[in-house]
Amino acid sequence: MSFCTYNLPLRVWFLFGFSEKDLESESASWVFLGSVSLQFLILVWLLEFHIAGFLALGAWLASLRENKLDGKVATVIGGASGIGEATARHFINHGACAVVIADIQDEKQNVAASICSDRCTYIHYDVTDKEQAKSLVESTVSMYGHLDVMFSNAGIFSSGTQTVLDFNFSVFNKLFAVNTRRMAACVKHAARAMKEGGVRGSIYSTASVSATHSLGFGTNYVMSKHAVLGLVRSASCMLAEDGIRVNRVLSGTVGTPFLCRSLGVEMEEMEKVVESRSKLKGVPTEKNVAETVAFLSSDKLEFLIGVDLAVDSLYVFPL
Ligand SMILES: NC(=O)c1ccc[n+]([C@@H]2O[C@H](COP(=O)([O-])OP(=O)(O)OC[C@H]3O[C@@H](n4cnc5c(N)ncnc54)[C@H](O)[C@@H]3O)[C@@H](O)[C@H]2O)c1
Repeated sequence: MSFCTYNLPLRVWFLFGFSEKDLESESASWVFLGSVSLQFLILVWLLEFHIAGFLALGAWLASLRENKLDGKVATVIGGASGIGEATARHFINHGACAVVIADIQDEKQNVAASICSDRCTYIHYDVTDKEQAKSLVESTVSMYGHLDVMFSNAGIFSSGTQTVLDFNFSVFNKLFAVNTRRMAACVKHAARAMKEGGVRGSIYSTASVSATHSLGFGTNYVMSKHAVLGLVRSASCMLAEDGIRVNRVLSGTVGTPFLCRSLGVEMEEMEKVVESRSKLKGVPTEKNVAETVAFLSSDKLEFLIGVDLAVDSLYVFPL
């Protein structure tokens, strides 16, 4: 009996009321063989079931990793608050090996440590200073070895109404230096570093629905966002052969300090305005824009180039 404790076919055999002695007859041997084969088939089926389960689990885990930004080094310009901050955070949470936040809000530089003290750094960078774009990219490369993603996101809104009949050119110049020239400087220096390092990188700008529509005011802002569209289209065409993708994320009306300042309202009131004027109910957040930038930066989207990807609730203008 001790033998049958370890022998499954025999144990089943005994369950049917047979004994070891019965095995000696020829017909009983065939029944025994049949029972062994059946058990073998059940075992194979069970194993297959488990193997298929393990394979499916492996594929699922792999798919979770695929969209991640493992090993990527990103620079987020205008990353101390709003959309930029959310994007820096999202990048770190999804595997980026380093994120450099470049901004003028030095009082908010702790945001880098709050995101991740090991992998997120703050650098003072004023986009209106042409020289600083080059040194920002050089610092990133010397700290982390290469640059994969440049998210050029810093922006300011028009001060005053800036209608065509009431144009203030010094305000116009200041706004263009931040919203438009900064993108040109970022594309130039980031693309050079990517090309030199043989990196098939991605460069993005945060655009706005006003890159394609009039707001009815803020002419310089609308112009600055339209101008970046021309830059993105030209750059994506010129850098494609180096495997560098240039795209834009068109942010809809998102509740950030920028928008509250622009509308002159508090966040709560702003959300009510956005919700009441949006076709798609709900209020888009900076996290929604951040997810789109991260999605675009994934190696899975290697053929997405020169696009304007809108993250929008179909806000109905005027503001
Ligand atoms: N919030 C929206 O609804 C909305 C809509 C469309 C487009 N956008 C665009 O999104 C971008 C980010 O805006 P946000 O809403 O997150 O606002 P935000 O004010 O929170 O962020 C803008 C960031 O840019 C930085 N910045 C401003 N001037 C700078 C300079 N000279 N040098 C370096 N950094 C500078 C600011 O310090 C800030 O951190 C802007 O380009 C804006 O035009 C926002």
